[in-house]
Amino acid sequence: MKKLLTVLNGQKVFPPPLWIMRQAGRYLPEYRQIRQKAGSFLDLCYNPALAAEVTLQPIRRFGFDAAILFSDILVVPQALGRDLRFEEGRGPLMTPLQKQDIARLDRKNAVSALAPVFETVARVKAELDNSTALIGFCGAPWTVATYMIAGHATPEQAPARLFAYLYPQEFAALMQCLADISAEYLICQIKAGADCVQIFDSWAGVLDEESFAQACIAPVRSMVQKIRAVYPEVPIIAFPRGAGLFYQNYAEQTGVTALGLDWTVPLPVAAKLQENVPVQGNLDPLRLLAGGKILAQGAEAILSALQDRPFIFNLGHGITPQTPISHVEALIKQVRGRFEQ
Ligand code: CP3
Repeated sequence: MKKLLTVLNGQKVFPPPLWIMRQAGRYLPEYRQIRQKAGSFLDLCYNPALAAEVTLQPIRRFGFDAAILFSDILVVPQALGRDLRFEEGRGPLMTPLQKQDIARLDRKNAVSALAPVFETVARVKAELDNSTALIGFCGAPWTVATYMIAGHATPEQAPARLFAYLYPQEFAALMQCLADISAEYLICQIKAGADCVQIFDSWAGVLDEESFAQACIAPVRSMVQKIRAVYPEVPIIAFPRGAGLFYQNYAEQTGVTALGLDWTVPLPVAAKLQENVPVQGNLDPLRLLAGGKILAQGAEAILSALQDRPFIFNLGHGITPQTPISHVEALIKQVRGRFEQ
């Protein structure tokens, strides 16, 4: 039985299932070793044997309830023909998208260019036992577009917000293109063996109400409809980080199965959202980095507020590379040990 899927089907589980965003990564020495062997980060993403290996590393070490495919959200724009590289310490770099580039995106070959990712999913699936769920993922159209337009990470996504205001038609075409390709991409991941999928909208928190409806809600709703038309039963988790007061509308209007919550969501608000959808989250990753009492108190508060309804324990964003492994172990012990009498 996969506890994660039980929760996503609307039932609570004690102790709650647990996984960690960015659980395969630089805080693990075994990851750093394989990463070095692979060459670049992108070489690792496109090497199904090694990508499967790093997907499984945190499962072997910690026994998390879910494995998440190892890849990156930016392989989608790369498959559409945009250039992409990662520089140490600078994150992703792309050539900034101009409005005339949108009609030239290579929709026809995009999904087949992602074939190595589907092979990674199939390899991981073959290795997992039947209690561990496999999560596929992609970036939400808005978050992917912020990198395509600016060409790099920006603090408040000003280039993408301005682009949306100045060129509304082109921006709408970009959202539609990304929603179509990303939905097809997730459908192929499910076909290859993903039990459920997560849509990461890491930059959802910078938009005004109307822009949020257009750039975050509408494209994800379109993706949900496309995926459900093929796989009506497969759960879809969305993580619109920083959505704040928009979380409730987001859940209702996109129709996603479950909501990932960032750490700024107050626990009574999280509990209220949970009346309608299972929630996942929302420990501040820096509490995990700090460890000790700060970690224990944060985790305890979350567990007592959210354990009585369908709930998946996770961080409110990705684990930081400096996090000591002993802190992860302490967290797992706390979450799993809490209900063992
Ligand atoms: O969660 C997992 O373990 C699965 C793998 C995964 C990665 N990226 C691997 C990765 C997932 C789910 C992502 C999603 C992703 N990628 C997001 C959404 C989630 C979030 O964190 O907000 C975003 C915005 C990206 C884009 C991206 N990729 C950035 C901004 C960076 C640089 C920042 C950093 O941590 O270095 C990456 C690189 C990246 N993606 C790494 C990993 C393990 C580090 C690369 C390395 O090993 O050198």
